[in-house]
Amino acid sequence: TRVALAFSGGLDTTVCVPLLEEEYGYDDVIGVTVDVGQPESEFEEAEETAEALDLEHYVVDAKAEFADLCLESVRANATYQGYPLGTALARPVIAQAILEVAEEQDCEGIAHGCTGKGNDQLRFEAVWRDSDLEVIAPVRELGLTREWEQEYADEKDLPVEGGSGGDWSIDTNLWSRSVEGDDLEDPNHVPSTEIYDWTSDPTGETEEIEITFENGYPVAVDGEEYEPVELIESLNELAGSYGVGRTDMMEDRMLGLKVRENYEHPGATTLLSAHEALEGLVLTQEERQFKQQIDQQWSQKGYEGLIDAPLVGALEGFIEETQQRVTGTVTIRFEGGQARPVARDSEYAAYSAEHASFDTETVGKIKQEDATGVAKYHGFQRRLANEAIAANADG
Ligand code: ARG
Ligand code: SIN
Repeated sequence: TRVALAFSGGLDTTVCVPLLEEEYGYDDVIGVTVDVGQPESEFEEAEETAEALDLEHYVVDAKAEFADLCLESVRANATYQGYPLGTALARPVIAQAILEVAEEQDCEGIAHGCTGKGNDQLRFEAVWRDSDLEVIAPVRELGLTREWEQEYADEKDLPVEGGSGGDWSIDTNLWSRSVEGDDLEDPNHVPSTEIYDWTSDPTGETEEIEITFENGYPVAVDGEEYEPVELIESLNELAGSYGVGRTDMMEDRMLGLKVRENYEHPGATTLLSAHEALEGLVLTQEERQFKQQIDQQWSQKGYEGLIDAPLVGALEGFIEETQQRVTGTVTIRFEGGQARPVARDSEYAAYSAEHASFDTETVGKIKQEDATGVAKYHGFQRRLANEAIAANADG
């Protein structure tokens, strides 16, 4: 009998390999690593660890598919408690890719190394429980702690590198890098700058770039067109060098636990703020207001790892309709750790400089003094209500 394991070569997934044989009785474990834009060093680590464990190892490239999903999330202005969704969006893509390998390889089981404290267990299993495979979560089911895992690994002489770069749990993909655990679990501890890999401390330097959008999708920087993967990678590098896109926050997880999280997401922050700036120019006030609720729902489902829920398809119907006009350019200035929109332009602008200007008195049939009637009625009900309250208080 065979079992497929979501394998990264880190401590958790490495100890899962012998445990799936010893504790769950599988004859063969196959490791699957899915490429959603992790750094090269992570694949090397996974490869080396797999070799040392004599583990049959598969690497699946899902980068392009994941990049497309990241750009869908831009159209939905997707964030959770203020940070761009990264890990959350990658999980269903990873889970699906592993499931496909598991089925091809005639596996009867499918396993992950997530804890019973987090979100990732829920996101993986939502996908896997659609299948008939036995879903296994050794870390959660055997109640493993990191300390126990480290001792077990030492005892069994498993190939785990101890302590390089702290004992943080790091999850990296194209869209963001998350760092949690160890000394960061104290919310009052100021993190060392070593936790950052994508962003430098902001300098006094600034730079402006122009991002082109077509139907809500970012397609070019300074007039040069990019495929989604390259677009995100190059913006991560550029914006990261200006210290854009750091988040240090308390996150409310799905189980209800609060956890201290640190994220880096320079490219995502740049694209999200540019996209929102362009929507500000072309969408009507009522569309923007309603879209906030749509975006919020999209983000919630994204956070939950349920991006294939029918609700999301319905929300995307609305998003698609609005994004037809989100075509144009936005100039972003990197400055002081921010990616700030400083100019925007579109053929679909719902804007009239002539009407809005302080320097024009009459445009077409509308004169400045026409607002007088509106001003007289503005707040009228509240005036009557407050008068009634005051009259009754006196009596
Ligand atoms: N709490 C974040 C989320 O739910 C990040 C999880 C990071 N995962 C990890 N295995 N380090 O998206
Ligand atoms: C884990 O608990 O395995 C990682 C963090 C998370 O899933 O939120």
